[in-house]
Amino acid sequence: MNETTTVLAVERLSAGYGGNQVLDGVSFDLRRGEVVTLLGRNGAGKSTTLKCLMGFITEKTGTIDFEGTPIARCLPEQIARLGMAYCPEERGIFSQLNVRENLTLPPVIREGGLTLDEVYALFPNLRERGASQGTKLSGGEQQMLAIGRILRSGAKCLLLDEPSEGLAPVIVKLIAKTVHELKRRGFTILLVEQNLRFATELADRHYVMETGRVVDMLTRDDMRHGNDRVEAYLGI
Ligand SMILES: Nc1ncnc2c1ncn2[C@@H]1O[C@H](COP(=O)(O)OP(=O)(O)OP(=O)(O)O)[C@@H](O)[C@H]1O
Ligand SMILES: [Mg+2]
Repeated sequence: MNETTTVLAVERLSAGYGGNQVLDGVSFDLRRGEVVTLLGRNGAGKSTTLKCLMGFITEKTGTIDFEGTPIARCLPEQIARLGMAYCPEERGIFSQLNVRENLTLPPVIREGGLTLDEVYALFPNLRERGASQGTKLSGGEQQMLAIGRILRSGAKCLLLDEPSEGLAPVIVKLIAKTVHELKRRGFTILLVEQNLRFATELADRHYVMETGRVVDMLTRDDMRHGNDRVEAYLGI
């Protein structure tokens, strides 16, 4: 593996909640500028993997190297300062704050983040809704806000948990366009997805998870030659 291009290397990651093991030796890597998905059925451990990477789960063994720094024992704020950002499945919008406040609340921790205007250029709806309270937003607007919010920080590696979940096709397209644009701008993106079409269009590589393990890796070309293999894993 070429150290200069490897952004994230996960080796034999095992983790759980209150003594119940969920991840059982997960290994994968991300190279600079790639969009990579974690695919898998409900409960496979996709979100748990992202939470481990971001330091939210302390009950874990194995190694996680981010930009060459071992982070498996780091706190979330230390990992954020190294340039990783996380957009949770539940989106985590502050309901009492308006759109602009939600966007500007998280601190800018490194240079190179998007300005508020650049975030609004990616998501014009957010500019229009700038003064609207978090609770008043549609699911799509909340998802745009959840992604937009982490782009100001200066993080270059983004962990996105099911950004297309529960959204109308037109919004899914907009989110896909945004992920494309972020890749073009040099972000490295780890995407948890169950929407196979969305994942296939966007990602360079796909890791398939089953019951706490990575069981397969497929390239963009593998997917192009029919995704029967993945559909079998996902039970579609
Ligand atoms: N906070 C928690 N406490 C205890 N068990 C949990 C917790 N969060 C997740 N789990 C369990 O860990 C397993 C993996 O969950 P995880 O959320 O990582 O799956 P997932 O692949 O993201 O699934 P989904 O597609 O439904 O989002 C599941 O069996 C789940 O019940
Ligand atoms: Mg999940």
